[in-house]
Amino acid sequence: MMIFLETTPSTNTAAKQLLCREHLAHGTVVYTRCQTAGRGQRGNSWEAAPGLNVTMSLILRPTGMPAAEQFYLSEAVALGVADVVEMLLDDVSHEEVTVKWPNDIYVGDRKIAGILIENSLSGANIEWSVAGIGLNVNQREFLSDAPNPVSIFQLTGRSYPIEEATSLIAERILSRLEQPRDELHAVYRSRLWRREGYHSYATPEGREFEARIVDVAPTGHLTLATTEGPLPSFAFKEVAALL
Ligand code: BTN
Repeated sequence: MMIFLETTPSTNTAAKQLLCREHLAHGTVVYTRCQTAGRGQRGNSWEAAPGLNVTMSLILRPTGMPAAEQFYLSEAVALGVADVVEMLLDDVSHEEVTVKWPNDIYVGDRKIAGILIENSLSGANIEWSVAGIGLNVNQREFLSDAPNPVSIFQLTGRSYPIEEATSLIAERILSRLEQPRDELHAVYRSRLWRREGYHSYATPEGREFEARIVDVAPTGHLTLATTEGPLPSFAFKEVAALL
C-alpha cells in the first residue's frame, strides 16, 4: 500500500504516528510531495525541494529478527536504494554508485540519497522498522549547507517521475530483504565507498587520522587500519570519513 501525504513535516514521523494508531503491513510506503522538516542522521535536517525528490518511509516488519541483527535491514535498504540509483543513472554517469558506511548512497564522491531507520522493539526482537529514504531526483540546485549533494537530474540532464522512483525503491528494498544474509552482507561490503586505499577519518573528539577500511562486521561495526595496524572497531557516530 502507498499512503500519499501532500505535505508533512517528516514521512518518518508521519509513519510512526500512523503505526501508533493502526496496523501498517510490511511493505507499506508513506510518501509526500512536500516534506517541511525532514530529519537526517546525527540530528541534521534533510533538504528536499517540494515535488522534485523522493521523500518516503517504508514500513518493515522482519519476522523474528533480533534487534542485534538490525544492521541487515540497514544493508538491504542501502543496497535497494543503490540499485535504483544505478537504474536511474542508466549508464549515463560513469561514476560508481557506492554505499558510504553505514548507509549514505554516493555517486562518485557526492551524496545522492540518505537513509534514516527508526526501529521499535518488542522484547529482544524488532517489531517494526521505519526506513526513511530521501533520494535527490529532479532537484537542480541545493541551497542547504550539505557539503556534497547531487541529484539524478544533475548527473543525467533527465527528469524522472517521483512516484515511479518511490515504488521502485520499495520494490528493490523488499527484494533485497529476501536475499540470504551472507550474500547481502558480501554485496554490501563490495559496494562500500572508499573500500580501497587510505583516507582521512575523524572521531567526534576531533582526532584525525589516515586509515583504510578492513571490514564491516554483520553488526555494522567498522574496522579501520592505519599503517600501524588495525584499530578497535567503530560503531556508527564513533567515527566519520572526512570528505
Ligand atoms: C541522512 O542522510 O542524514 C538521512 C536522511 C534521511 C531523509 C529521509 S527523507 C524521508 C524520511 N523522512 C525524514 O524525515 N527523513 C527521511
